[in-house]
Amino acid sequence: MSDPSESVRVEGVHLLRDRVALQEALAELRERGDSLALVPTMGYLHEGHLSLVDQAHGSADTVLLTIFVNPLQFGEGEDLEHYPTDLEGDVRKARARGVTHIFAPPVSEMYPDGPPVIRVDPGPMGKRLCGISRPHHFPGVLTVVARLFALIRPDVAVFGRKDYQQAVLIRQMVRDLALDVDVQVGPLVREHDGLALSSRNVYLSPIQREVAPRFQAELARAASDFLGGMTEARHLVSGVRDRLERGGGMRVEYIEVVHPETLLPMETARVGAVLAGAVHIGSTRLIDNVLLGVRDEDPRLPPSDRSRRA
Ligand code: PAJ
Repeated sequence: MSDPSESVRVEGVHLLRDRVALQEALAELRERGDSLALVPTMGYLHEGHLSLVDQAHGSADTVLLTIFVNPLQFGEGEDLEHYPTDLEGDVRKARARGVTHIFAPPVSEMYPDGPPVIRVDPGPMGKRLCGISRPHHFPGVLTVVARLFALIRPDVAVFGRKDYQQAVLIRQMVRDLALDVDVQVGPLVREHDGLALSSRNVYLSPIQREVAPRFQAELARAASDFLGGMTEARHLVSGVRDRLERGGGMRVEYIEVVHPETLLPMETARVGAVLAGAVHIGSTRLIDNVLLGVRDEDPRLPPSDRSRRA
């Protein structure tokens, strides 16, 4: 990035690498009177990300995608150094889905004064579920999302249900800090065999990849047990946990039935409750969730798409 005001136009996409270029592009969009939808990502785009782009197009004139692997949300010993990247491929995929503006800053542009001293505290909701094993994760996520909202001032921002707790926390942050952004949550996109798409699926070996769909299959089985009348959360949870652990190849971090808005554990599951979990397959951590009593309408990719990066 030699010229800080440089705004690279890669085959019809404004690839913005710094805040000056971002502000110039935003000024142009505002001049045009365009409404703006933001889709924040860490890149290595897959159909889950791109489905959010599709949704964003339905809500605003222009879609701005961000690609930033946010160091604040990675704990020590996590995969920050190994997180997959492919800026060129991402630009190509985003462009094919009608994205005209991509903000992909280096860390020094996102945090010019070094790591932020003031961070957004997710409160008790951030300490449950994934927050137990990853205490720094949600403060890091909320801080970067708040910073993106401040830099970009989008009308709409779209997040995926895959990261259920993240989406709830962002909604709560917007309410509590009176941020003027309409937060939308898109559906969870899955591989043909049920595995939730994730940039991290690339870490799985072929054998681990064979094992991975069992996670979703057991969550789905519990969802059908719920429909069959099993409403006691501890039975649903222990069923999933036992079957996953018995099957081998997977270590369960947590499985819980929680309220969809407060994320508080529920003793008796009700329609709309979230059955969420995290498992480890080797050194790869996967998360997934299903909504109980709600028809499973998670989009699945056709089998032929499986060779695509998951
Ligand atoms: P990342 O994991 O790249 O995900 C970016 C967005 O894509 C998130 O809103 C996530 O929920 C959504 N997403 C991921 N996999 C999905 C799937 N299979 N189906 C539907 N949506 C999916 O989440 C983050 O990045 C970061 O925490 C971020 C919000 C960008 C802040 O750094």
